[in-house]
Amino acid sequence: MNTRPPLPSQLSVIGHPLVQHKLTLMRQKQTSTGEFRRLAREISLLMAYELTRDLPLEYAAIETPLEPMQAPILAGKKLCIVTILRAGDGIAEGMLDLVPSARVGHIGLYRDPDTLKPVEYYLKLPEDIGERLVIVVDPMLATGHSAAAAIARLKQAGAQQLRFACLLAAPEGVKVLTEAHPDVPVFTCSVDRELDSHAYIRPGLGDAGDRLFGTK
Ligand code: URA
Repeated sequence: MNTRPPLPSQLSVIGHPLVQHKLTLMRQKQTSTGEFRRLAREISLLMAYELTRDLPLEYAAIETPLEPMQAPILAGKKLCIVTILRAGDGIAEGMLDLVPSARVGHIGLYRDPDTLKPVEYYLKLPEDIGERLVIVVDPMLATGHSAAAAIARLKQAGAQQLRFACLLAAPEGVKVLTEAHPDVPVFTCSVDRELDSHAYIRPGLGDAGDRLFGTK
């Protein structure tokens, strides 16, 4: 019997077969750094497709080789991807393949060893972030504390329309993030079983940053 609590309605799990297949390849421990990075990039592009499904359109007068027409184009300012350093960079790359003119912000947080709370060490954002759709990316939603803190900081900086995207989520992280920010839709490719005592997602895929950058 499935004893898991129901997932919050603000959470979308991207079940597309290509995404699920690529995620399985990423999880496998024998997958090389180069392959892992390539898969992360491909999945992120597909995630960006899902995340941007409802972007508003407007109509512009254009001319085809045969006649003038009113044709749909994206309305409003370019979206902004904010990567949570460092592993978020591996997701941003793939999203930029699909939306190359997106703006990119960075936020760096570390966990204070005494208070265990996230502390900001880096922040660089577009000045007009309040006028853009902001997609916050981090491959692993583990405890949810960094994601919740990053989003709180972006709201403080003026962001009004936010979405969060990760490859994998733990139920614990989903709870923390969605309770802290019920207005922020969350997209993931899988909600795994649990967090372990070292805050790793199980079964998971290991340390996403180390696997993306080959640092271990
Ligand atoms: N960060 C990771 O890279 N992996 C986990 O499993 C949890 C957090």
